[in-house]
Amino acid sequence: MSDYAINTKCVQGGYTPGNGEPRQIPIIQSTTFKYDTSEDMGKLFDLEASGYFYTRLQNPTNDMVAAKICDMEGGTAAMLTSSGQAANFYAVFNIANCGDHVVASSTIYGGTYNLFAVTMKKMGIEFTFVEPDCSDEELQAAFRPNTKAVFGETIANPALTVLDIERFAKAAHAHGVPLIMDNTFATPVNCRPFEWGCDIVTHSTTKYMDGHGAAVGGCIVDSGKFDWMAHADKFPGLCTPDESYHGITYAEKFGQGGAFITKATAQLMRDFGSIQAPQNAFLLNLGLESLHVRMARHCENALAVAKYLKGSPKVAWVTYPGLEGDKYYDIAKKYMPNGTCGVVSFGVKGGRKAAEEFMKHLRLAAIETHVADARTCCLHPASATHRQMNDAELAAAGITPDLVRMSCGIEDAADLIADIDQALAQV
Ligand SMILES: Cc1ncc(COP(=O)(O)O)c(C=O)c1O
Repeated sequence: MSDYAINTKCVQGGYTPGNGEPRQIPIIQSTTFKYDTSEDMGKLFDLEASGYFYTRLQNPTNDMVAAKICDMEGGTAAMLTSSGQAANFYAVFNIANCGDHVVASSTIYGGTYNLFAVTMKKMGIEFTFVEPDCSDEELQAAFRPNTKAVFGETIANPALTVLDIERFAKAAHAHGVPLIMDNTFATPVNCRPFEWGCDIVTHSTTKYMDGHGAAVGGCIVDSGKFDWMAHADKFPGLCTPDESYHGITYAEKFGQGGAFITKATAQLMRDFGSIQAPQNAFLLNLGLESLHVRMARHCENALAVAKYLKGSPKVAWVTYPGLEGDKYYDIAKKYMPNGTCGVVSFGVKGGRKAAEEFMKHLRLAAIETHVADARTCCLHPASATHRQMNDAELAAAGITPDLVRMSCGIEDAADLIADIDQALAQV
């Protein structure tokens, strides 16, 4: 599939049925797999042969869908996880251990911020958060000798900052570490971070990829471009024998293109077991089949809504990277020339109270923590997803108390605007 355009990969990637085989990907609803001899099974356990033995580690349905996303991102290997949280945790924990350090953009999703700043900190991994627009000097100063990765979001949720992928990749590589990007909001339809120097991509597939609010899931894709062995001292988990796996050295046995995902599967999936249910992988694949069509409509509707909000006297400010004049418009044009995402952030004049009041009057747009759904939904992050942050942390994450995050669905743009208009009129 690699020679085809992204639109074709969305529809047909990951699974090519043979003669007489099912047209749709089969759901392999089985926890376990049968073998004729113990020797056959032993080869799987030793990673000498590829195949399946237990769905906590791998499942064929999941692998077909992961292969599609891998193809869409232009990577060499991929795995599905049970959620986006699991994907980001695995992607970082696969290379950063207790005593290590990671540089991360400050404007990341609140759940990821909490995972890093609180939970992974308890595991002994320190994070330094830098603003996405920090100077080169500030970015350089964030690195330490024990830094193992740089992490950012292509389009941040909900701040809608756009990361300068090339600049962050250059800084990461200058320090011998990979750049990990959460590409949930842009999706590979609108941005392929590997083309700009990023090394590992993660997704909350719960969002646009599924797109129908049906299945929580995540994905990790490896570009295969990062040379672990060239920085073997930094990545002993990939470059020295794994005693918990019969002394296998992942980077040697599976090479640059396969080491990262094999290690994350063999160790992290084995031990933490955050596998995506094959049923959910099937639903995810249904979503992927129309992702390219939906993304165009999401972006078209979001731009129309952003333009309307910009002209409304009831609105204090509007952020949408696809809107001309937005702080991130130029950088978004560079990395995602065909469109950004369906999410628009704005402030209702009157602050926190006015924002909450506005949301109460919406009829079509539902109040949800979710985004990136076919149906329009909205959220007041300061009182919901980001409520664990204090004011300083909120400001650092690019969130003001009046911020409303509107995730524009694929309904008719005129209906969405009419709904927002009547709700604003009542504030
Ligand atoms: C950018 C981003 N990354 C990760 C996540 C976490 O994903 P999940 O909810 O699938 O665990 C989210 C959830 O909103 C998100 O927006």
